[in-house]
Amino acid sequence: MAEDAEKLSLAYLLGKDYNPVQAELILAPEYEVAAVTGMGAGKTYAACVAAFRHAVKYPGAFVLVGRLTFRELVDTTKKMFYEMVENKKLRSFIVKPANWDYRERTNVVRFKNGAEILFANLEPNRLDKLKNLEYSLVVIDQAEEIQYETYQLLLNRCRLNAVPYSDRHVIAIANDEGDNWLRRRFLTFEPPHGRPTMSATRRLLRGTSLANPNIDEGAKAQLLSLPPEVQARWVYATMDAGTSRLIPDFRVIAPFVVPAHWPRWVGVDPARSTGVTCAIWVAVNPDKDVYQGVAPNAPVVYNEYWAEGRDAEDHSQEILRQSGPHRLLGYAMDRSAWSTGALSRKLGAISVAQLYVNAGLPASPSSGDEWARVMLFLEAQKRGLVVFRTCTHLLRQGPEYRVRGQQMVDSTGAIKDLKIVSKQKFHAIDAGGYAFEFIPTKVVAVDTRTLEAAFDIADDIDDGSRRHWEALQRTLPKRKGHESVVTQGIDEAELHGENTTHAAGWWEHDDVGW
Ligand SMILES: Nc1ncnc2c1ncn2[C@@H]1O[C@H](COP(=O)(O)OP(=O)(O)O)[C@@H](O)[C@H]1O
Ligand SMILES: [Mg+2]
Repeated sequence: MAEDAEKLSLAYLLGKDYNPVQAELILAPEYEVAAVTGMGAGKTYAACVAAFRHAVKYPGAFVLVGRLTFRELVDTTKKMFYEMVENKKLRSFIVKPANWDYRERTNVVRFKNGAEILFANLEPNRLDKLKNLEYSLVVIDQAEEIQYETYQLLLNRCRLNAVPYSDRHVIAIANDEGDNWLRRRFLTFEPPHGRPTMSATRRLLRGTSLANPNIDEGAKAQLLSLPPEVQARWVYATMDAGTSRLIPDFRVIAPFVVPAHWPRWVGVDPARSTGVTCAIWVAVNPDKDVYQGVAPNAPVVYNEYWAEGRDAEDHSQEILRQSGPHRLLGYAMDRSAWSTGALSRKLGAISVAQLYVNAGLPASPSSGDEWARVMLFLEAQKRGLVVFRTCTHLLRQGPEYRVRGQQMVDSTGAIKDLKIVSKQKFHAIDAGGYAFEFIPTKVVAVDTRTLEAAFDIADDIDDGSRRHWEALQRTLPKRKGHESVVTQGIDEAELHGENTTHAAGWWEHDDVGW
């Protein structure tokens, strides 16, 4: 028994090193406790500890642990609870389920003392069920995902008498999502929330990701590589009212003619059955000098295509037309377009991507991962990304691209599951991201010189001579610009001598190195 008591101590459950905000969350005496922190600060872990201790302490306890969607609840919160119980050797307190696997269908954990923990999703259609129950503790993970109405309902249902009021709590843990009900209820006390009272207490806990000594080093490095304004929200949880913008402002420039030797790529976000097809063209300055406001090695978005209600064939043709006359180094398209089915009158059932490929667009698959996409935009911006004023859809969508309900650091400490608000409509961001994925960290100029015959034949010679020189030309390799060519055994000096009178040969240029 003494051993059991030890197992319930914070020193044991949180370990030697923990984020102080975790202990505050577990011990807070207030009825409503909100923790708004950076990602990976240890909120979910602390909430699991709180739920566990509460259940062990009160035989009649009934704990609700909820998150908006069932899948995410199971894969993140429930999983972490199961792992914590396993790692801290707490199975002896629990009688059900016997098979300790978070993926098991059962969503109730029963303790030896009769207390129970229910894992439930908090989607609006589930509320009728949940509001018929009474709880002694409510834990809401990623509370920024849920409606205030849901929270209100749960506040009213946290009234199970088996636990004294002083130990009943509604714990809402959240990432900083700017101006939402959590901020208004716990920080600014705006109407209808007002201020807490002696009998209806509220507490807001704050903390940064960096204060969690248990956060994975890789995850931490990734968080710290974000631009300052994104870090303010995700790492430091400053709770500024601003929006949860992911992509900092673009630097906009006036259009200019992109030099032919700049390497170019295009990203294409194809319409699925209906909707918009968007293409974004990106070039990179391969030279050592700034050109028209584009820094060396910086990308420039110089064209966009945005059209709706056309066939894949028409989209493809238009994208190819707008690419010309340049040879693009890559046509990137979302990988999922290869697994999304489309119906074509001519071709029957094929993939969306195949429709475009068949129409002549040489598309290759891009990863299509949203998180990677944000990072690619941030990377491009670090490199000095500029956008032509004419790319209006991209310029409009950049500031609108936001995060919501992100669960970025999972129970293994890996970063994942970034959620973007109605991401399916961000075609310009998607298309741009696909293109960025194809751009190497260092680019080289495109060789724009065409292949030419080894020497030129003058116009004013007789047919016999012309045939002779043409026959000789065919035996020689082609040349590119002023580069020397291998002459396949023909004596260069002799060739030179014979030809000087009527051919403006490449050897006449001063800069030829023999
Ligand atoms: N006291 C602790 N002991 C051991 N690992 C912890 C502790 N607190 C947090 N962690 C680990 O740190 C990582 C981030 O914690 P988590 O609770 O998921 O953060 P948040 O919910 O704030 O994003 C997870 O891998 C979690 O297992
Ligand atoms: Mg969490």
